[in-house]
Amino acid sequence: MDHFQLKNGILHAENVPLPRIAEEVGTPVYVYSRATLERHAQVFRDGIAPVGKSHIAFAIKSNPNRAVLRVLAKAGYGADVVSGGEISRAIAAGMKPDDVVFSGVGKTRAELEQALDTGIGQFNIELEEEGVVLAQIAAAKGMTAHATLRVNPDVDAGTHAKISTGKKENKFGVGIDQAPAIFDRLARLPGLKMHGVALHIGSQLFDLDPLAAAYARVGQLVADLRAMGHDVDRVDLGGGLGVPYKPSENPPSPADYGEMVARVTKGWDVTLMFEPGRVIVGNAGILLTRVIWVKPGVINPYVIVDAAMNDLARPAMYDAWHDFAAVQPNGQKMVANIAGPVCETGDTFAMGREIDAVASGDLAIFRTAGAYGATMASTYNSRPLVPEVMVDGDNYAVVADRIAAETILAAERIPDWLA
Ligand code: LLP
Repeated sequence: MDHFQLKNGILHAENVPLPRIAEEVGTPVYVYSRATLERHAQVFRDGIAPVGKSHIAFAIKSNPNRAVLRVLAKAGYGADVVSGGEISRAIAAGMKPDDVVFSGVGKTRAELEQALDTGIGQFNIELEEEGVVLAQIAAAKGMTAHATLRVNPDVDAGTHAKISTGKKENKFGVGIDQAPAIFDRLARLPGLKMHGVALHIGSQLFDLDPLAAAYARVGQLVADLRAMGHDVDRVDLGGGLGVPYKPSENPPSPADYGEMVARVTKGWDVTLMFEPGRVIVGNAGILLTRVIWVKPGVINPYVIVDAAMNDLARPAMYDAWHDFAAVQPNGQKMVANIAGPVCETGDTFAMGREIDAVASGDLAIFRTAGAYGATMASTYNSRPLVPEVMVDGDNYAVVADRIAAETILAAERIPDWLA
């Protein structure tokens, strides 16, 4: 359930009519609903209640906007971060360092140091050498880094190849067969406290079976590590739960997921860590856009909107579907292609889709744009960086400015020797 609904024939975000935001902030613009964020945070927390001891670290790559993070920090969420920049954001938003998990296959030495100095609660180590270097840096500072070893369970998550992470050919984690030996060596290093294992097999998952299979493999690993004499008190189960991008889609709910996790992890006696991203923010955001032209096409007309692949990259990158709706639907439908102004054929949001009839000047939205939307935006084609707005009941605030093309231009230099 979200708070982007028609009221008196006009799409609203909570109680704010979208035309007001378009008028005052301009388009394209991302619009987030605080109430939806809070609801999703609560629904996920309720869903995993049956698992016992747990910690939720929001995968901030999915939406790193500071106001979004503040809402989740207030809801008791920590953060899953993958860069020094994300560490800074999590802390700036008010998340407690101890509630931050540092994931990522390519953490630099500088980032490891930053994370230690910040006092973050958990490093998810991706390869043995990373653990060795982390231990050295921590020991030199007289500190202890708390860590898990990320394993690759070699399970096909059944999602788009570009967002699948748990197959043995993927770059993430250490092979589950090598994990006991690597864990054993890392556990002996001064400066490092190994707490357990981590995994994440992919994103936008609609099937709980691969997750259950991967978790079961990790459960066996935990038993093996304990048999070797290691204490294991944490398992990080990652994120990945899918969301409906179309009304007809019916992914497992957080409650279904929590029930599966409780069943598979029964008796593990660990703190379970969760790293949800999309399921929290996906349907808490939309991309508001204005139709520039309706261009006659050979097969279908092209609805050319002022949002483009630089603002919402998912359709171009993953052939992703985002529902399109008119802000003031007139009850008519049309079959059309939807595209942005960028000079690439890939800058297409839909082909031959039945949509609300729109004309040039009309406002429309792409739904389910709160996750991996603004955060993946660029300034390709020298377009401005898309702004973000958060709605709270009758009010809204601009939570990220539109960065003008001129501002970006001002950060570039022509060297003297080209004068
Ligand atoms: N934990 C780790 C280690 C991850 O790599 C990810 C996502 C998550 C948690 C959160 O997964 P989620 O709950 O959001 O599925 N840009 C792509 C998605 C990339 C996901 C990357 N990793 C998209 O737009 O579909």
